[in-house]
Amino acid sequence: MIEAVGLTKRYGAKTAVDQLSFQVRPGHVTGFLGPNGSGKSTTMRMILGLDRPTAGHVTINGRPFRDLPNAQRHVGALLDAKALHGGRRARTHLLSIAQLSGIPERRVDEVLAVVGLQDVARQRAKGFSLGMGQRLGIATALLGDPQVLLFDEPVNGLDPEGILWVRNLMRQLAAEGRTVFVSSHLMSEMALTADHLIVIGRGRLLADMGTQEFITHNSAGFARVRAADTDPDGRDALGTTLAKAGGRVLQEPDGALRVTGLELPRIADLAHEAGVRLWELSPHRASLEEAYMRMTHSSVEYTSSEDPRAELFEPEPLSVPAWEEELPAPEVPQSGFFAPPPPGAGGQQPFLMPSEPGELAAAAKNNPEDTR
Ligand SMILES: Nc1ncnc2c1ncn2[C@@H]1O[C@H](COP(=O)(O)OP(=O)(O)O)[C@@H](O)[C@H]1O
Ligand SMILES: [Mg+2]
Repeated sequence: MIEAVGLTKRYGAKTAVDQLSFQVRPGHVTGFLGPNGSGKSTTMRMILGLDRPTAGHVTINGRPFRDLPNAQRHVGALLDAKALHGGRRARTHLLSIAQLSGIPERRVDEVLAVVGLQDVARQRAKGFSLGMGQRLGIATALLGDPQVLLFDEPVNGLDPEGILWVRNLMRQLAAEGRTVFVSSHLMSEMALTADHLIVIGRGRLLADMGTQEFITHNSAGFARVRAADTDPDGRDALGTTLAKAGGRVLQEPDGALRVTGLELPRIADLAHEAGVRLWELSPHRASLEEAYMRMTHSSVEYTSSEDPRAELFEPEPLSVPAWEEELPAPEVPQSGFFAPPPPGAGGQQPFLMPSEPGELAAAAKNNPEDTR
């Protein structure tokens, strides 16, 4: 177990990590997610005693890293795959670290086999591809058969096969009861790998929750409903009826209506009562990637002037129909539909807990975003 309490790191005027408190538990893959420059590596360095916190503290199994006897046997880490002597052969590199920690030589061959580097064990590391370097870094982390493992962006630069391999390895290590803490700036990757997420932006905690819970909270549901194209009056009548019933209704470019705040059966009943013939009524979810980018948008340190994400923050190509402007928006969101917090909503608790978690859990099961 890793426990951070009020962990803070300042470099001069720059606050890289800002009062972070969290726990990383054994038996889980905990994803450490945040944009570039949000403080992930700095946090990991503090966990490993490589950087001294300006304030707060962090412990591994109750002790600061530096107080752990023979730390290599308790904690393994991959921070930077290039941080090794390029002139050394892979096996020699591992052997030198093993010898420093009293780890038997046969363990070197074991970890080489685990990461699939047996055939290149006698090649010099400087000739390794990025993927081979990452595998060697992972082998180094596994040497002491540690209970706690930290990996800083381990899939960066890997091909799809390598990514899948790392993902399965992390899960296997967690299934063995180990504490696995892995960072990434990619939501999509973490959604597939981690079962718990700690999300930071500008060094601050934005979310600390189960991946499934995160997905449920942050991919807002909506319904698309479309009256028969041959019946424009019916479409207007439908919009008015849904808005009066408390739905938030937006017009989509193809003439369909995007509705939040009403369950699908209710929309069907209302359309039926209004005598409107439907050509479409379908459930949808906003993408998780979009939710993550919205959440961290205000905390992204470096954005290009042509930020590809900009379009996510443009008003959607939807218009508010006349009937919607006349009616006040319902104040209480209806159960089953949650919108992601608006950009900049920030704060310590940007995620409202659902009033009825059961319903949300049920909705999450149908979530096409979660392909695990
Ligand atoms: N040694 C350092 N000196 C000064 N600033 C640093 C140092 N290390 C990191 N930073 C700054 O701290 C912030 C967080 O960096 P980092 O922890 O590397 O983020 P991440 O790993 O999430 O990309 C960045 O703004 C970075 O420039
Ligand atoms: Mg980093």
